[in-house]
Amino acid sequence: MQIKKSFLYTLSLILHINLILISVTNALNQDGLILQKAKLSFYDPAGSLANWSDRDATPCNWTGITCDNKESVVSVILYNSSLSGSFPISLCLLPSLSTIDLSENSINSSLPLSISTCRNLTFLDVSQNLFVGPVPSTLSDLIFLRYLSLEGNNFAGEIPTTFGNFRQLEVLELSNNVLTGTIPAALGNITSLKKLELAYNTFSQGDLPPEFGNLTNLEELWLTNCNLLGTIPQSLGRLSRLTNLDVGQNKLTGLIPSVIFHLKLIEQIELYDNGFTGKLPAGWLKLTKLRRFDASRNKLTGVISNELCELPLESLNLYNNRLEGSIPDSIAKSPNLQELHLYGNQLVGKLPSELGKYSYLRTFDVSNNSLSGEIPGFLCHNGALEELVLINNQFSGIIPLDIVKCRTLMRIRMRGNRLHGEVPPEFWGLPHVYLLDLHGNAFSENISSLIYGAQNLSNLDISDNKFSGSIPSEIGSLKKLGKFYANNNELRGEIPSTIVNLGQLGLLNLCNNKLSGEIPKGIKSLTMLNELNLANNDLSGKIPGEIGELPVLNYLDLSNNHFSGLIPISLQNLKLNKLNVSNNQLSGYIPDFLFLDIYRDSFLGNPDLCLNDSHSCNSRSGGNNGVLSWIYWLILVALGVVCLVGLVWLMRKYKKITKTKKGIATSTWTSFHNLDFSELEINDSLEEANVIGRGGSGNVYKVVLSNGEIMAVKKLLETPYENKNSEFEVEVETLGKIRHKNIVRLWCCCSKENYKLLVYEYMINGSLGDVLHGNNTRTFLDWPMRFRIALGAAEGLSYLHHDAVPSIVHRDVKSNNILLDENFEAKISDFGVAKVVKSVANGGGVETMSMIAGSCGYIAPEYAYTLRVSEKSDIYSFGIVIFELVTGKPPIDPEFGDKDLAAWVRTTLDKNGIDHVLDPRLESKFKEYIIKVLDIGLLCTSAIPINRPSMRRVVKMLREMRASMDSTIPI
Ligand SMILES: *[C@@H]1O[C@H](CO)[C@@H](O)[C@H](O)[C@H]1NC(C)=O
Ligand SMILES: *[C@@H]1O[C@H](CO)[C@@H](O)[C@H](O)[C@H]1NC(C)=O
Repeated sequence: MQIKKSFLYTLSLILHINLILISVTNALNQDGLILQKAKLSFYDPAGSLANWSDRDATPCNWTGITCDNKESVVSVILYNSSLSGSFPISLCLLPSLSTIDLSENSINSSLPLSISTCRNLTFLDVSQNLFVGPVPSTLSDLIFLRYLSLEGNNFAGEIPTTFGNFRQLEVLELSNNVLTGTIPAALGNITSLKKLELAYNTFSQGDLPPEFGNLTNLEELWLTNCNLLGTIPQSLGRLSRLTNLDVGQNKLTGLIPSVIFHLKLIEQIELYDNGFTGKLPAGWLKLTKLRRFDASRNKLTGVISNELCELPLESLNLYNNRLEGSIPDSIAKSPNLQELHLYGNQLVGKLPSELGKYSYLRTFDVSNNSLSGEIPGFLCHNGALEELVLINNQFSGIIPLDIVKCRTLMRIRMRGNRLHGEVPPEFWGLPHVYLLDLHGNAFSENISSLIYGAQNLSNLDISDNKFSGSIPSEIGSLKKLGKFYANNNELRGEIPSTIVNLGQLGLLNLCNNKLSGEIPKGIKSLTMLNELNLANNDLSGKIPGEIGELPVLNYLDLSNNHFSGLIPISLQNLKLNKLNVSNNQLSGYIPDFLFLDIYRDSFLGNPDLCLNDSHSCNSRSGGNNGVLSWIYWLILVALGVVCLVGLVWLMRKYKKITKTKKGIATSTWTSFHNLDFSELEINDSLEEANVIGRGGSGNVYKVVLSNGEIMAVKKLLETPYENKNSEFEVEVETLGKIRHKNIVRLWCCCSKENYKLLVYEYMINGSLGDVLHGNNTRTFLDWPMRFRIALGAAEGLSYLHHDAVPSIVHRDVKSNNILLDENFEAKISDFGVAKVVKSVANGGGVETMSMIAGSCGYIAPEYAYTLRVSEKSDIYSFGIVIFELVTGKPPIDPEFGDKDLAAWVRTTLDKNGIDHVLDPRLESKFKEYIIKVLDIGLLCTSAIPINRPSMRRVVKMLREMRASMDSTIPI
C-alpha cells in the first residue's frame, strides 16, 4: 500500500514536471522550434543569430526571418553573415517557406538530395559559399522554384539532366564551380528562363547546344570559359529578348554569324578570346541598342565595318586580331564612346580627326598597328581622357594642344613613333600622370622645369630622342619617381644635385648623353636605387665612396667617362651583377674582392689600374695581363671542382638505375579510373631519358602510351618516412578518390616489393618552380597568371584541409609541387609525404611525425623543433609560394646570404620598402593587388601558427580580390 502510494506520488510529480517543461518550450511556436534546430547546423562565430532566442513566442522578429500574417515563416535571408557549417536541411520542415538566401557565407557541406522536401520554395540562393559535392538532381522537383543560384562554390559533377524539367525557373546561376561533363541540351527545355549563367566551370569540350534557341524569354546568357567548341548555332537568332550575350574565353570558331542581327534588344556582345575567323558580318544597323562589343583576341580579318562604328557604342574592343584598313571616321560620332581598344592589328591610315569631340572618351589604345598621320586634336575635348596609348605606330607631327592641356591624363605611352618637336612645358607637369613614355621618337629641346607639377609621376621614359639642354633641378621634387630613363639623348650640363632627394628612385639611366661634372654628393640617400647607368658621358671626378652605401644597388655602369682616382673599397658592400668602370682614368689597385669572373671585363681601358702590389704597377699592359691570368687560374680551379662533383653524382645515379632495373616481379595495381593500358607499357618507359622531375622520394617520368595518351609516373624508391606499408595504401586510396580542379589526378598506383608507382595526369607546363626560377624561360608569368595560380593552389589546399574526408595535410607544399596545366591552372601534386589527419573537425588536428618532411626554405619554424604536423605548417609553406610569386625569387638563394626568402622579404620590407620586394618585371598597374597578395603571404608566414589564416580564409580573401581586379584592362 505504502509502495503504491509513493509510486503514484512519483508519477504525478513526473507528470507535473513534464507539464512545466512543455509549457516552457511551448512559448516558442513550431516554426521557431524548427529554426532552433536549423541553427544547430551553423557555426556562427560573428553571432549573427544571437537574437534567435527560444524565449520568444514566435521567430518573426529574429534576424533574417520574415513571417506571413499567420506567423508562419516564409523567408530565411542570411546572406553575408559569416556562417559556416552545413546546410540546415531542417528548414524544409517549415511548411510555408518560400525563400532561402544563404549567399556569401562559408557553408561547406553538400546540398542534400532532400532539398526537394522544401515544397514551396520559389527562391534558393546559396551562391558564394564553399559547398561541395554534386548538384542535387532533385532540385527540379521544386515545382514552384523561380530563382536558383549555386554560383561561386565547389559543386562538382555534371549538371543533372533533370534540370530540363523546371517549369517556372527564371534564373539559373551555376557559374564559378567545378562542374564537369558537357552542358546538357535539356536546359533548352526551361523556356521560362530569363537568365542563364554557366560561366567559369571545368566542363569538357562540347558544343553550345542548339536547343538554347528555344529559350525565347532569355535576357542574359553568360557562358564565359565553358570549353565551348564549334560555331555559334543559328538557332540563337531566336532569342529576341536577349540583352547580354557573353561567350568569351571559349574555343568557338567559324565566322561571327549574322544571326546575331536578330537579337534586336542586345546591349552587350562578348566574343573575346575565341577562334573566330573571317570578316565581321554586315547588318549592324539593326542592333540599335548595342552599346558594348568585344571581339578581341580572335583571328578576325578584313576591315572594321563602318556600320558597326555608326552605332552609338560606349565601348569597342577589337584588339589582337588581324584587322586591316583604316578606322572608320563614323566611330567619332558616337556620343557614348568611352573606351576604344584596337591595338595589335594591321590598321593603317590616319585616326578619325574628330575622335573625342562628341563623347567623354576615357581610354584609347591603338598600339602596334601601322597608323600614321598626326594625333587628332580632340581626344581630350570633353576632359575625360585618362589613358592615351599609341605605342609602335608611325604617328608624326607634334603633340596637339588638346593633349598638352589634358589634365585628366594618367597614362601616356607614345613610344615607337615619329613624333617630333618640342614637348610643351605644360605637358611635362600634368598633375595625375603616373606613366609618361616618349621613348623612341624625335622629340627635341628641353625638359621643362614645370615638371615639378607631375607629382604622381612614377615612370618617366624619354630615352632615344633628341632632348637637349640640362636636366632641370625640379626633377628632384618628384617624390614618387621610381624609374627615369633619359638615355640616348643630347642632354648636357651636370646631373642636378636635387636628384639625391628621389627616395623612391630604383632606376636611373642617363647613358649616352653629354653630361659633365661629378656624381652629386649625397647619392647614398637613394636607398631604393637598383640600377645606375651613367655610361658614355663626360663625367669626371672620383667615384664617390658613398656608392658602396646604396643598399640594393646591383647594376653599376660608369664606363666611357673621365672618372679618376681609386676604385672605392666600399664597393665590397655591394652585390653587383654588373659593374663596368672601363675606359676611364682610374688608378691604383683593383681590390681583391672584385676578382670574380663576372667582373672580367669591368676594368678595361684604365691604363693606370693594376692588380695588387705583387705585380708591377708601372707596366701598363702588365697590370691587365696580371688580372687576366689570375682570373683564368681561378676559373680553372672552379671548373675542376665542378667536374669532380659531377662525376661523383653520375656514379651515384648509375648505381641507382642499375638497382631499380631489377625486380618487376609481383605487384598489385589499384586503379581509380577506367584505364586501358598495361603495367608493362608503363614499365618500359621508366628510363632515364624520360625523367621530367627528380624529388627526394623518387623520379617522375613522362610516359607516352601506345594509344597516344600521356601520363606522369612517379616511382617511389625507399620510403624512409613510412613505418607500415598499409599507411601508404590508405593515403593512396584517399587521394585516388579526390576530385578537385586544383589537385592533380591520380589515375592509379602500383605497389611492388622495393618500389611503388603512382600514375598521374600529365601537366604540360611543368611546375611553377620551373617556370619561375628554372630553365623554362619560354614563359613569363604576368601578374594575372600568377594571381590565378595563387588562387588555384589555395583552393586545392583548402579542399585538402577542410573538405576532404578525412582531412589531409600535404606537408611538402612548394612551387615545385604546384603543376601547371595547358591553361596554366595550378594543380597541387606530390602527396609522397602527405598525411591523413584523423581529427581536424575543429580545425586543429595535430599529429607528431617521426621525421621532418618538407623542403628547405618552406618549413615552418615550429616544425623544426616540435615535429608536430598540422595544416598550419602547410599554410606557412603556401605563404612562401606567395612570396615567390610576388618577388619572382626562389625560396633560398645566395643573394639572401644566410637568410631564406621569408626572412629576406621581411628585412627588405623594413629596410628598403615595398618596391625592393616586388618582382620588377610585373606591371606597375597591378601594384595595389600585388601588395595585397604579399600581405596574405605575410599573414601565412606568421611565426606563431595560430596567427596564420586558414586556407579557407585565404581563398575567401583572394576571391574578393579577384572580383575587383577583373575590372583592370589588359595591355
Ligand atoms: C596616381 O597614380 C596611380 C597609379 O600609379 C593612380 O592609381 C592614382 O589615381 C593617381 N593619383 C592621382 C592623384 O592622380
Ligand atoms: C664595359 O664597357 C666596355 C666598353 O664599352 C665593354 O667593352 C665591356 O665589355 C663592358 N664590360 C662589361 C662587363 O659590361
